[in-house]
Amino acid sequence: MRFFYKNGLRPAIFLFDPEKIHDITLKFGKILGTLHFKNIWSPLFNTKNKILEQEILGIKFANPVGLAAGYDKNAELTQLLGSLGFGFEEVGSISNLPCSGNPKPRLWRLPKSRGIIVWNGLMNKGAKTLHEKLDKLKFDIPVGVSIVKTNSPEITELNEAVPDVISALKIFSNFGDYITLNISCPNTAGDGLFYNPKNLKILLSRISELKLKQPIFIKLPPDLNIKNVDEIIDLAREYKISGFVLSNIVKRRDLMDADKDELKMVDPGRGSMSGKPVEKLSNELISYVYKKTKGEFVIIGCGGVFSAKDAYKKIRAGASLIQLITGLIFEGPQLVAQINSGLVELLKKDGFSNISQAIGADSRN
Ligand SMILES: Cc1cc2nc3c(=O)[nH]c(=O)nc-3n(C[C@H](O)[C@H](O)[C@H](O)COP(=O)(O)O)c2cc1C
Repeated sequence: MRFFYKNGLRPAIFLFDPEKIHDITLKFGKILGTLHFKNIWSPLFNTKNKILEQEILGIKFANPVGLAAGYDKNAELTQLLGSLGFGFEEVGSISNLPCSGNPKPRLWRLPKSRGIIVWNGLMNKGAKTLHEKLDKLKFDIPVGVSIVKTNSPEITELNEAVPDVISALKIFSNFGDYITLNISCPNTAGDGLFYNPKNLKILLSRISELKLKQPIFIKLPPDLNIKNVDEIIDLAREYKISGFVLSNIVKRRDLMDADKDELKMVDPGRGSMSGKPVEKLSNELISYVYKKTKGEFVIIGCGGVFSAKDAYKKIRAGASLIQLITGLIFEGPQLVAQINSGLVELLKKDGFSNISQAIGADSRN
């Protein structure tokens, strides 16, 4: 299937506009998810193995590979992903108010760099509509909800932003295996507001008053300065945050490990990069947070996972789970199964009887 995807389907798909292809994939995936016979293809994609199973924060994961926030913003694929071998999914990012996002085009593929420039602007149907939809469904894998401040020029100041996020969280107070606070969406109105520790403290203190039952993660950008990361870790500790998603896309072009000529094709004011150009930064951040906190927080590693080796590197750096989007687009839907079966081999080769033993193995000294 990998050969067919890379040599047949991908070259054809890559001739078309990325957002159109994404929309078609979502429509097709939604239909597939409703089919009763989806169990027919499930064995092809599912690598059931005890070595990959973990219980983290009371949530059971059959394997560590999840779909990252941003691919399934409006929760179209929740009924399909388990049959494709995913261990979990993060829907969203979802904002309190619906948002139509930035004007198109807002996605660019960079094949040489193996990344995607994203300038979506957080389009989604809004917390109320999506909660109504999700609340009616049953799931065969854990589902996390990514919550973000509404992208609106009218909601950029703290006194508007905090109630906006709190409203979305209240709507989702009874749904989701975990919640991720996406404070790191670049190129949106008020972007970076919650990197400021004073602002984040106000938000987290309001969130703590909600007494949410779900564990909360904070999603960070890969290009934050270390002092700022340390301040956020301190606040996470104070407000009993369970973990971090490391990381989001990278905004600073000088830090992107990308092909310079390809980069020039996209206006620098637009978008941030996913995929391989973010991998090194994401791995460094995972390693830094794991070493600094000695495994106190659960880390979901994200950025540039294109193979089992890439996933394993993140796990050994300190991630308990991994997420991906860009690898799926460049490598094909069989990637999840390849990662899981590859992880089983890599873990056994290193003498581990369960994935949990490998977490942080390279960050312990
Ligand atoms: C098309 C696209 C849309 C994204 N939208 C979101 C989003 O809404 N919320 C979010 O937290 N991250 C979003 N991201 C970032 C991803 O969740 C992920 O952190 C990043 O792409 C790195 O992983 P990858 O290299 O496997 O794609 C988006 C990424 C892509 C490619």
